[in-house]
Amino acid sequence: MSMTDPTTIAPSQTHTSANGPLLKHAMSSRAKVIESTIDALLPPTRGGDARLVEAMRYATLGGGKRLRGYLVMETASLFGVPESQSARVAASVEMLHAYSLVHDDLPAMDDDDLRRGQPSTHRKFDEATAILAGDALQTKGFEILADAATHESAAVRIAVITAFAQASGAAGMVGGQMIDMEGEGRALPLEEVRHLHALKTGCLIRYSAEAGAILGQAEPELQQRLRSYGANIGAAFQIADDVLDATATAEELGKTAGKDEASGKSTYVALLGIDGARAEAERMAKNAIDDLAPFGEQADRLRDLAYYVIERRN
Ligand code: IPE
Ligand code: IPE
Ligand code: MG
Ligand code: MG
Ligand code: MG
Repeated sequence: MSMTDPTTIAPSQTHTSANGPLLKHAMSSRAKVIESTIDALLPPTRGGDARLVEAMRYATLGGGKRLRGYLVMETASLFGVPESQSARVAASVEMLHAYSLVHDDLPAMDDDDLRRGQPSTHRKFDEATAILAGDALQTKGFEILADAATHESAAVRIAVITAFAQASGAAGMVGGQMIDMEGEGRALPLEEVRHLHALKTGCLIRYSAEAGAILGQAEPELQQRLRSYGANIGAAFQIADDVLDATATAEELGKTAGKDEASGKSTYVALLGIDGARAEAERMAKNAIDDLAPFGEQADRLRDLAYYVIERRN
């Protein structure tokens, strides 16, 4: 190829949503692996705690896009991490994410009756069971990471666990949920909304992209690139979630639509309107693609994913 051949431009320039079908296939095949890994790691539904285990399985199995788990497995594959290890880390983040959804839907929080096209966990069971199932899913996620089957090096396991704890706790998802609740009925300024998104959604998505690099003991520069990629994907993802809340139907979403406006949530849509929010999500997705510059075509699925997060319909 000559230097003037337009096909010689960097992979980051050549990837557009036209590559969607390839990504769709990759996501659905990884989702199957994640599903069976979660199934194998959760206890079967028998014994005295049957109701708790049933609720844990109900909240985690048979639904969800598996975006976070996909990110773990896809970034881990850049560094040759065996799937037997990355699938465990993917399962653990999907369990923690499911816990965050179960609690997010509780009457004390967003009070949502529908999740993944089914009654939310507290509607299917009851509030106490939903709270406890969420708690147990969270600790199960950490237990999985601590097991030697996740990585042969204890130092690597500790690094993953530390990143996971930071992304999930007061400085991450839980802290973001607190700001989200306190922001109800108040018009938070744009910088605050950005911070709220970064915490409630961005931290866990950023962690998911970074986890592959930690497992793969990647050079700090590459780990930092994936961390930044994940943060940008996370920001784009939550803006898209807010746009979908305002524009899609409950049928498409598998969750109640129009809730953010009804609850007076502080969102990009409320501040910038739908078009303004979409433009911001696109900017974040482009930044995410730029973060992948040091990676070759092995990272093309991750480039496609940046378009997917803003173009998705659910
Ligand atoms: C929903 O996350 C909650 C947000 C952080 C926006 P997802 O849209 O990833 O939910 P599932 O896992 O696909 O159901
Ligand atoms: C939830 O954000 C983020 C979590 C940490 C669970 P939302 O409240 O917007 O998520 P949905 O729209 O209910 O899925
Ligand atoms: Mg919420
Ligand atoms: Mg909600
Ligand atoms: Mg939402």
